[in-house]
Amino acid sequence: MNRRKFLGGAIAAAGAATLSPSEMSASTAPGAVNSSAQSVPGAIPSSDIEAARFPEGFLWGMATASYQVEGAWNEDGKGESIWDRYAHASGHIKGGDTGDIACDHYHLYKQDIALLKRLNQKSYRFSISWPRIQPDGVGAPNQKGLDHYKRVMDAVLEAGIRPFCTLYHWDLPQALEDRGGWPNRDLAGYFADYAGILAKELGDRITVWAPFNMPWAFAYYGYGIGIHAPGRAKFSDFLKALHTISLAQGESFRAIKAASSKATVGSAYSMAPGYPKTDSEADRAATARYHAMNNTFFLHAALKGEYPNAFVDEPPYEQMGVRPGDDKIMRAPLDWVGFHYYTRRIISDAGGARAGNHQQYGTEIEADTGDVNGRDPYTRFHAVMPTEGPLTHAGLEIWPRGIYDLVTQISREYDHPIIEITECGCCYMDTPYPKEAGRVPDDRRTAFFQQILAELARAISDGARVRAFHAWSLLDNFEWTDGYSQRYGLSYVDYRDQQRTIKNSGLWYGHVAATNRLRT
Ligand code: FCB
Repeated sequence: MNRRKFLGGAIAAAGAATLSPSEMSASTAPGAVNSSAQSVPGAIPSSDIEAARFPEGFLWGMATASYQVEGAWNEDGKGESIWDRYAHASGHIKGGDTGDIACDHYHLYKQDIALLKRLNQKSYRFSISWPRIQPDGVGAPNQKGLDHYKRVMDAVLEAGIRPFCTLYHWDLPQALEDRGGWPNRDLAGYFADYAGILAKELGDRITVWAPFNMPWAFAYYGYGIGIHAPGRAKFSDFLKALHTISLAQGESFRAIKAASSKATVGSAYSMAPGYPKTDSEADRAATARYHAMNNTFFLHAALKGEYPNAFVDEPPYEQMGVRPGDDKIMRAPLDWVGFHYYTRRIISDAGGARAGNHQQYGTEIEADTGDVNGRDPYTRFHAVMPTEGPLTHAGLEIWPRGIYDLVTQISREYDHPIIEITECGCCYMDTPYPKEAGRVPDDRRTAFFQQILAELARAISDGARVRAFHAWSLLDNFEWTDGYSQRYGLSYVDYRDQQRTIKNSGLWYGHVAATNRLRT
């Protein structure tokens, strides 16, 4: 997700004025937490937080991603990634920041894993940098890259923590971008080869695998509208990338299973529950299309071998490059379903719009660059992030109820799968405070997690099979185009000397992990 654009989105949403009564009813539908007694819209009563319980054995975790934390961008034979190239070019990242050093996790991983252990974590979600394993994206693996991750895994296992490996968190080898990037169907095969290498070499240590982090987002931001690496903006490329990724998901599933009998494969999708702007049929239908495109596109492709109905008219399968027999390649009976939760969207129909009239339709208002080439003539919904609840420093609305709605919806629609929350977190800029002995009093982050987790506990007690929750993030880190100007960590990082300080929210979360309760 692109924070700079989210800020724009928040402004755009504010420009859309106050929510109509029917929007209010959509967001406080039957069963909603009654927040009228609360001073903060959407807030969860403290009695619910106090009462929340998580099941024995629940997997409390934290997440990171290779490019955002590792640094060591050109060490030990690593190839260039699209994020190296993108960040090194001027004008893309706030402050001219890059991930060249980031949190230096590549060298400091032992102390970072010690932090996880100290905070009683049971699961560590991290990603592997593809160009460390295959510098050019194809061919024999780079032994030094493999050895690095073997050492990291040994430390994680030694700490009694379950490793959760994301194969791809956006750092594509630049050499594969030079071959056309994700719109090139061949990447599905290259990705499966990479997955097979990882499962063969690391499958004794890792049993939990997710092929892609937020596939919709990197396809759309990277190829549809060009606000993330590699910075390309053509709607037809976005459509092609969607299909290649979906094929790659299926092929990598099989490659992992073939190389490691212990492997389980799931996902790390971006999801944000959609609520219709009004009760009209048109807005409800638009909300269903939004849900299909932004939330369940790849999940549906995997579980059903077909795309969900995200399009108003005939699906643009030809533009996507769909071929006969692809349904079998896409299909992958995931062992569990992982997705992130950050915020929600209000959806309306953009039906009257026609191609060329780019103001009126699109898949994400916050990503609207005004570039006519980037517009979407197929899904015709309009999604805004409301500002009814408070906003984080990144401009995302806090809506705890959203996680309950999303988890129960996915459970209903996909026959009650095992669910892992792969990311959830908030940006606040609190720093070490000398008057409190250098501690980081980030009370808003603690409050954010308390409320969201109370709603997650409610979903579990209502029958959802959620087994894990990963806070984003273990550390403050490189936040894509926002560089180091945003801090999501439960530990503060001083980038001048790489010192880590566990924030008060991190200490609290460590307590939650030990007790399965949300008290401070
Ligand atoms: C998610 C990304 C992650 C990080 C958080 C804040 O969308 O997966 O890399 O940027 O947002």
